[in-house]
Amino acid sequence: MGNLKKMFQNNRAWSAEMTRQQGDFFSKLSSQQSPNYLWIGCSDSRVPANELVGLLPGEVFVHRNVANMVIHTDFNCLSVIQYAVEVLQIKDIIVCGHYNCGGVHEALANSSQGLINNWLRHLRDVQFAHDDFLETVADTEARSDRLCELNIIEQVKNVCRTTTIEKGWEMGKPLTVHGWIYNIGNGLLQDLDVSVSSAESIKSITGRAIRQAYERTEKIHDS
Ligand code: CO
Repeated sequence: MGNLKKMFQNNRAWSAEMTRQQGDFFSKLSSQQSPNYLWIGCSDSRVPANELVGLLPGEVFVHRNVANMVIHTDFNCLSVIQYAVEVLQIKDIIVCGHYNCGGVHEALANSSQGLINNWLRHLRDVQFAHDDFLETVADTEARSDRLCELNIIEQVKNVCRTTTIEKGWEMGKPLTVHGWIYNIGNGLLQDLDVSVSSAESIKSITGRAIRQAYERTEKIHDS
């Protein structure tokens, strides 16, 4: 219980500090939220959405699950996307994964962890889709890194193919879906250069990003 108490103390100190910096911070926030970004990230405790991009409460709408997956029957994630785009009028959707992802490790190891295996089965589908390439990567860390990147690219595709985004683009909304990866080891984000702004460009942009991911390992092997 000691640590939980500490959290309330921290909270009071934080609230006081925010109010000291900007007197009307909380009163402004309580009247409305108008975030510019939707963040779909991993639940991993080392990848806190707001903190690592320096954004305050009110600035980013967040959905997190194990291994930052966008599954077409997951009404939790789909509802977040729909609300973000149609109600909050968010135009930039970011899928942010990270290297050294526990979900990716478990999928590659195909270890038995109970219920979560069913969730990670979708990640294994990504693995199966890129099997021919992944099998050529001898180094286990490099293989995990590539699957982390490929998973983000596949989830960008999945966001693009949700009814919300398809409908948004049909209506001429300026929506862009991005894929980023975070390095827990140095705290840095990297853009996977897979920003998609139209249905017509999904294939070419994600295809290019996949080739770039494949080549990343070849470069490491060549050096
Ligand atoms: Co993770």
